[in-house]
Order: sequence, then C-alpha cells, then structure tokens
Amino acid sequence: MFFNENLETWNDLTKIIQNYVNGNYDKLTPVVNYEPATKLKEILDLKLSDDGVGHKKILQEIEKYLKYSVRTSHPQFNNQLHAGASFESLMGELISFVTNATMATFEVAPAATLIEAKLIEELNEKIGYHDGGGIMLTGGSNANMLALHCARNTHASDIKYKGNRGLDLCVFVSEEAHYSFKKAVILMGIGLDNLILVKAEKNGRMVSADLEHKIIESGDAGKTPIMIASTCGTTVKGAFDPIEENQAIADKYNLWHHVDGAWGGAALFSKKLGHKLAAAYRADSFTFDAHKVLGTGIITSFLLTKREGMIAAANSGGGSEYLFHQYENADYDTGKASLQCGRKVDALKLWLSWKALGHRGMTEYVDKQVEKTEYLTAKVVENPRLRLVSEPEYLNVCFQVIPNNKSLEINQYNIDLRFKLVKAGRFLVNYSSDPDGEIYFRFVFVNSATSREHIDYFLEELLKIAE
Ligand SMILES: Cc1ncc(COP(=O)(O)O)c(C=O)c1O
Repeated sequence: MFFNENLETWNDLTKIIQNYVNGNYDKLTPVVNYEPATKLKEILDLKLSDDGVGHKKILQEIEKYLKYSVRTSHPQFNNQLHAGASFESLMGELISFVTNATMATFEVAPAATLIEAKLIEELNEKIGYHDGGGIMLTGGSNANMLALHCARNTHASDIKYKGNRGLDLCVFVSEEAHYSFKKAVILMGIGLDNLILVKAEKNGRMVSADLEHKIIESGDAGKTPIMIASTCGTTVKGAFDPIEENQAIADKYNLWHHVDGAWGGAALFSKKLGHKLAAAYRADSFTFDAHKVLGTGIITSFLLTKREGMIAAANSGGGSEYLFHQYENADYDTGKASLQCGRKVDALKLWLSWKALGHRGMTEYVDKQVEKTEYLTAKVVENPRLRLVSEPEYLNVCFQVIPNNKSLEINQYNIDLRFKLVKAGRFLVNYSSDPDGEIYFRFVFVNSATSREHIDYFLEELLKIAE
C-alpha cells in the first residue's frame, strides 16, 4: 500500500533525508535558519486548496520544512533537554509507524506489549523496584500527573468515584521543579494554590527542612498533604533533591513520594552518577524520559511504580464492553492503566537502541556526556570573561558572560547575547533565570554528537559576539 505506488517518491524522499542529515556533519551548517513567524508564514506555502498537489510539490514542501526546522540532531544544538536521535530509534519509529499498532491490548500489539514490559522490568531493576509496575506514556509531564493520580488514589480510593469533594489536598515540590506539576494540579482539581513550593538552594536542590516546615504549616491550615515530589535532575540546573531526607519525611507524614527523574533518570545508567539515585528504590514512583539523555527521539517516557498495579488502580475505568475482553492474554493488556485509549508504540525506539549498545554501551554513552560536562565546566572556570553560576551536579552548565563594559546590566547583556547567537544561526543554547532574578546561559549535554571541538567552537563564537 505504502510503497507499491510510491516507490519513486520513497527513493527521492530517502535522498532528501540523507542530504539533510549529512548537513549535520558540517559545523558551518546553520542549526536554525531563523525567520520571524510573520515572514515564515509567507515563505511556507501553508494554504490547503480545493485541488490536491502531486508528489513533486509534496517533496518540495518537505525540503522547505527541513530548511526552516531547527536541526536538533546537529552537534551545535544544546538548547533543549532532548537532541538528536540514535539510528536504532529511527528504525524503531519507522517500524512502529509501518505496523501502526495501538498499545491498548496485547491482541493488537503483541510484540510491542512484551517489549514495553521488558523495558519496564529492566528500568525497575535499575531503580531497585523488585515488584514494580509501570507504563509508557506521552511525556514526563503526563508521567508526573499520573504519579499524582496514584498518590491521590492511595490516599483515598473513593476519590475515584466521588471526586475531590472539597478536600483541600496539597502537593509539595521544590521551587525548581518542572512546571508539569502545575498542569497536573490544575487538571486534577487540586488547584495551583495547593501546589506548595519548597525552597531550593542556589544550586537548585530542595531544602528538606523547608519541606517539613511547609508540610506542618499546611496541616495547621487544614490542608491534606498527599504527595512529595523530589526532582532528580532539575530542568535548569540539573540538581538532585535529597531523596533520603525527603523519604524520611514522606514516611513520617505518610505521604506518597515521587521522584521526577525525567531528566536525571539517565544517571541510573551512569557509573559516575549512579550513586545519586541509590535511594530511589525507597520512593513510590519514578518518572523517566529516555528521549532526553538517551537520545531515543520524542517521546519515550515512562512512569514506574514501586508496586505493581498502582497505575491501573488509579486510572482504570471503562472499555470492557468493547475493548478489554476476557481472554488468555488479558493480563498483558496495558490499556486499562493508560491515560489514553489509542497509544503509539514508543518502546521499540529504546529497546532497539539498548539492544544495539548493550548495558555497557549505555553506561559509556551516558558517561561520555558527563565527561563533556566536566570539560565545559573547566573551560568556563578558567576563562575570566565567564562565570559559573553553580557547580554542575549533572549535565547542565549554567554560566554568565561578563561584559567588558561594566556599565552594562549583566542579565540583559546575557539575554541580548543569547539572541544574537540564535539569530547568527550556528548554535542554539538556552538561557534561564533564578528566582532571585539572575539570568544565565544553560548549556545542556544531551546531544551525543557534540564533541570537545564543538564546545571550543561554541565558546570561541560566543566570545567573538560578546566582543
Ligand atoms: C525535570 C523534568 N520533569 C518533567 C519534564 C517534562 O517532560 P516532557 O517534556 O517529556 O513532558 C521535564 C522536561 O524538560 C523536566 O525537565
């Protein structure tokens, strides 16, 4: 169906893709051909007409799309917490699409279901969840929400039937936690005022003493605490909240303890950083995004739970009249636990990548990113024009460029510099800010293609623009 009538187009398409990807090997290829939205609207032929167009025109549109899309696989893309994608994950993505299964039941996705289950088993072993459960889902944000769902259901399972009923449920995260927790409390009817932000140190780590203080305070105010989320690998600074201290507090107040390891979970694979997650086995649940450090392509996300069946207990409802039948493989159906009905196969991307590298290769893969982080950190420290904002704990290097002209305001100077860098097109590196208003570059090591040579080139160009 796909190919018999379209073989010529397919061959042309593979050439276009190959040319595009080859561009990533040249450090002079722009990471982005920056155009403001109003201009890009004119360049792209967005209109949809009464009459269709042929494949020649379709291929032209694809080439234009590629030209104006950010090259996230380019080694000079160090902006977001995902970059590039392994060749094996590309194969996985293609095969998922060709079979176009939905993960709802074993019956329609037999091989994919077993592969996803195997990944969950392996990841749970790494955490230390020996009787664990889990599911893949559409992003770390949704994994955090589903964890909260489990926490709420464990606190009071009748909420599933009766709703929140005015219970003033509350949740504790650090002020450096990902904004997905805000989305989760909005969506679950808990409310933003009940997401209680705990103080973080300058390096981004949650202050456990403030956590306990805020739990007591909220109890005194008549609220009902249900969950603490420790972020392991904060989005901006890569800090790891103190799992053990937070677990002790969770035990004392009988709260669900979730670890958001969407970004930092790759430390599970690292020889150098594995110890940071040594206590994660004590927490109740764990978010992990393989599409971040492991380069498996958006989306490859997991929610893992210490005990099996927690997700389905919180989330099941309906579907048995037409979808979830009683049959010999019914126990393998993942749809009852899932947030979605139709669910894409994401497991192949990670499974094939992991198969190709083996356990040892996965460890080396992550530890190479750690080494590059150390390299850039040392370069920043030794350069008098640069200032390290805080000592990196993970793969985030946060630094400021110091203006030669001392009358310039340093925060605005760094923002201006960053946008000049983006518009020049060679590099994409993000900036961020602290609650105290300090603004800085955030260079993240997630792109396996970025080498020491690219780091040197980045610093050279940045300082040239700064001059
Ligand atoms: C710590 C943390 N948690 C959760 C998320 C959300 O993950 P996703 O983008 O897969 O929804 C992110 C995204 O960067 C993150 O950094």
